[in-house]
Amino acid sequence: MITLLFTSVVAGLLALLLYQRVAYPFFWLDLIYYLKLRGYRKTLHARMQQGIITYLDCFLYQARRNPNKPFIIFEKQTLTYQDVDRRSNQFANAFRTEGSLKQGDIVALLMFNEPDFICVWLGLCKLGCEVAFLNVNIKAKSVLHCFQTCGAKTLVVGADLVHLVEEVPPDLKDNIAMWVVDHMSPSEEFRSLLDKVEHMSGETLSDLPNVDIMSNFLFIFTSGTTGLSKAARVGHLKAIVSMAFFEMCGATADDIIYITLPLYHMSASLLGVGGCIHLGATCVLKKKFSASQFWKDCVKHNVTVVQYIGELCRYLVNHPTVPEEKAHRVRLAAGSGLRSDVWMEFVNRFGRIKIREGYGLTEASIGFLNYTDEVGPIGRASYFNKLSMPFELLSYDPQTYEPVRTDSGRCIRAQIGEAGILVAPLTAMNQFMGYAGNKVQSEKKLLRDVFETGDVYFNTGDLLFHDYRDFLYFRDRIGDTFRWKGENVSTTEVSEVLGLVDFIQEANIYGVTIPGYEGRAGMAAVVLKQDHQLNGTKLYNHLVKTLPAYAWPWFLRVQTSLDVTETFKQQKVKLVQEGFNPDVTKDPLYFLDLSQKDYILLTAALYEDIVSGKIHL
Ligand SMILES: *[C@@H]1O[C@H](CO)[C@@H](O)[C@H](O)[C@H]1NC(C)=O
Ligand SMILES: *[C@@H]1O[C@H](CO)[C@@H](O)[C@H](O)[C@H]1NC(C)=O
Ligand SMILES: *[C@@H]1O[C@H](CO)[C@@H](O)[C@H](O)[C@H]1NC(C)=O
Ligand SMILES: *[C@@H]1O[C@H](CO)[C@@H](O)[C@H](O)[C@H]1NC(C)=O
Repeated sequence: MITLLFTSVVAGLLALLLYQRVAYPFFWLDLIYYLKLRGYRKTLHARMQQGIITYLDCFLYQARRNPNKPFIIFEKQTLTYQDVDRRSNQFANAFRTEGSLKQGDIVALLMFNEPDFICVWLGLCKLGCEVAFLNVNIKAKSVLHCFQTCGAKTLVVGADLVHLVEEVPPDLKDNIAMWVVDHMSPSEEFRSLLDKVEHMSGETLSDLPNVDIMSNFLFIFTSGTTGLSKAARVGHLKAIVSMAFFEMCGATADDIIYITLPLYHMSASLLGVGGCIHLGATCVLKKKFSASQFWKDCVKHNVTVVQYIGELCRYLVNHPTVPEEKAHRVRLAAGSGLRSDVWMEFVNRFGRIKIREGYGLTEASIGFLNYTDEVGPIGRASYFNKLSMPFELLSYDPQTYEPVRTDSGRCIRAQIGEAGILVAPLTAMNQFMGYAGNKVQSEKKLLRDVFETGDVYFNTGDLLFHDYRDFLYFRDRIGDTFRWKGENVSTTEVSEVLGLVDFIQEANIYGVTIPGYEGRAGMAAVVLKQDHQLNGTKLYNHLVKTLPAYAWPWFLRVQTSLDVTETFKQQKVKLVQEGFNPDVTKDPLYFLDLSQKDYILLTAALYEDIVSGKIHL
């Protein structure tokens, strides 16, 4: 009797398991991920009870626990947690005594990746300053713009970036205190920092600031939607949540993490260095990504984890073979933007590396992580996933890219397999702190009255779709930016700049895809002024002076007029579809030839060479 009962229970369980495997094959993975997230929140909570609530607290906690553990390896230097702690104390003291900086001051930081980027930053955190990271590719014109938008009064610039600031006209820099991270100052505009730091105490500051976790921590510049780059506020909560990244991907304190992405982006500073601090691991920092050095560095430093963006992986698979690419110990690559074709090649060529693909935004806290072994999706839309991170995909109008509303004004969820706009409700965990000095742009990112009166959602501007198995796939980024070489290019910014050239009347900027490249290459449809001719050299010279190289249009399409019968968006869609193939349009097309510093006529032969990869962009 007992045996019979036992057998039928076992049989029942087996049947249930079988049913689960067929109907919900990802149930366990979903559940495990959910529990991991929950676990992380618990850890976070427990640490908060001990007063560890900010990025800085987390760093200080590791510096107390493991003072002699190497934290940053950079070129020939190795700095332990304690070294960085002491040096950042020295910076804090120098800024306080020599620069009178205090809690709440906003300081802009313009530096390449190097240990002092982190020491200066942490030093400023110790004073309670808010730091704004400037992109090292920006031009003199944008330095000022960035300054004005975030309200900084102090600028700290790396010794190798001084020239950028020197180009800004002196009268515009009147009220800005400028420091150079060097022993001597190149001119009287700047004050040198390193000679002061040497005389400062490295002892722990007695009066670390009290910080509200809901307040602002950083400004990070994004060119998310329209216009010049905007300073996104990144709160303390978002920072501390981001620090879980490597742990969620499966890294541990024993890992050696290789970071080649620029620190002024959130991925490297919060997910990367922050993720490393959270684990108490070691990070090998690189000034700039180099495909030829990548595996050599990994071997030299026994790297076990690398952080990537899609473009970086593509550079690696396009690079000729080096002996180190199979001799390394990298076991995990974590990042975002990896396409499945590159992933296949990556793993085939570089060995058994586990890939953890995620999705995240600077402005909001929504994020996904690819934790199954499926190729292609960026994450899961499972029941558990939505429980921990609520979001929705909304049906949209393909002409306007606005969400479709019913007669009663409510939005509609996208069907399975249909692309929708990713939106996330604003909650205590999903903060959106807006852009500094830009109420209009901030409000534009919000959707109101989505499913009921009064609800508010953050609009990511990204198109995703989910399949019947609840996998989420990335489709496109809406609107006025496109990605090239790992950067967002703002089409309005480029078109404003082109509009300043004396022979251009109007310019419409968009991105075109080229086989073998991530993202989109810039293209400009331009209308010339009456009685003016295209002068490629002049345009090239203008671009060099005004825009970072990644934003230069590679292709020009000279039109007699911009078609006004269609809306701007419709026209763009058509232009993007027609691309840069000279067989598709009668309009003359030009290609930016960097060796000639000129735009040259794009012939069918040249087109073939670009598409086949003979000519490299
Ligand atoms: C690009 O735009 C997205 C969407 O607004 C933003 O989250 C991201 O941080 C931007 N990336 C860079 C490198 O500015
Ligand atoms: C890398 O690991 C090997 C073997 O464990 C060890 O001999 C070597 O010293 C390590 N190199 C570094 C830079 O840590
Ligand atoms: C998701 O992760 C799996 C295995 O770790 C990998 O095979 C797949 O390529 C990843 N997805 C993407 C989009 O990278
Ligand atoms: C094009 O511009 C360059 C530099 O401004 C100038 O030297 C050159 O004469 C111009 N060419 C023509 C054909 O106008």
